[in-house]
Amino acid sequence: MEDDKLEEEEGAIEYVSYGGEHHLPLIMNLVDQELSEPYSIFTYRYFVYLWPNLSFLAFHKGKCIGTVVCKMGEHRNTFRGYIAMLVVLKPYRGKGIATELVTRSIKVMMESGCEEVTLEAEVTNNGALALYGRLGFVRAKRLFRYYLNGVDAFRLKLLFPRPELSSGRFIIENEDMPQESERHQ
Ligand SMILES: CC(C)(COP(=O)(O)OP(=O)(O)OC[C@H]1O[C@@H](n2cnc3c(N)ncnc32)[C@H](O)[C@@H]1OP(=O)(O)O)[C@@H](O)C(=O)NCCC(=O)NCCS
Repeated sequence: MEDDKLEEEEGAIEYVSYGGEHHLPLIMNLVDQELSEPYSIFTYRYFVYLWPNLSFLAFHKGKCIGTVVCKMGEHRNTFRGYIAMLVVLKPYRGKGIATELVTRSIKVMMESGCEEVTLEAEVTNNGALALYGRLGFVRAKRLFRYYLNGVDAFRLKLLFPRPELSSGRFIIENEDMPQESERHQ
């Protein structure tokens, strides 16, 4: 009975992509509550106006309980996606909601031709590091005192398979480690 109830609750989560100005305060409210870094309304608008199809919101019984905000574009000769913000309200954590939100954004990025996805996470944020690790992200760099609170960040990176490689597995690469081609020189 308890399990049925739980499944019912989980099934009731609705995911929608950014649908306009009425979604903006919902996103801002969640991010302001849960992320250490403060963002101005201009930052939020920059992301959701330019890449509305990359931002998603999760609702439960009409209440916004999670969100992901992203962008994509050219970066050093690659077309890459970037996950800027990810939040799920505490009572709803551990149910795969963040995974679903991020996966939806990554899917759109892949379909749009991105070759990789990056983001930064506090080195102390074990939950986020575990979540992204499970999705195949690797630690590409450590950024000293990256956040306003003085905490270092890991830059995480997910590489999509190159078209000529059809193993179906994500390729991983560490910017601070010698790459295969360099190791043998
Ligand atoms: C990080 C966060 C978004 C995760 O949301 P969530 O909906 O609970 O994540 P999921 O349920 O999809 O988790 C998927 C996996 O990530 C890992 N994970 C998530 N939170 C974790 C935690 N607190 N501790 C350890 N592992 C965790 C687990 O491996 C989990 O799988 P499992 O439940 O099968 O073990 C949420 O904790 C949050 O909003 N935190 C505050 C804001 C934040 O830190 N955002 C990320 C900034 S980079």
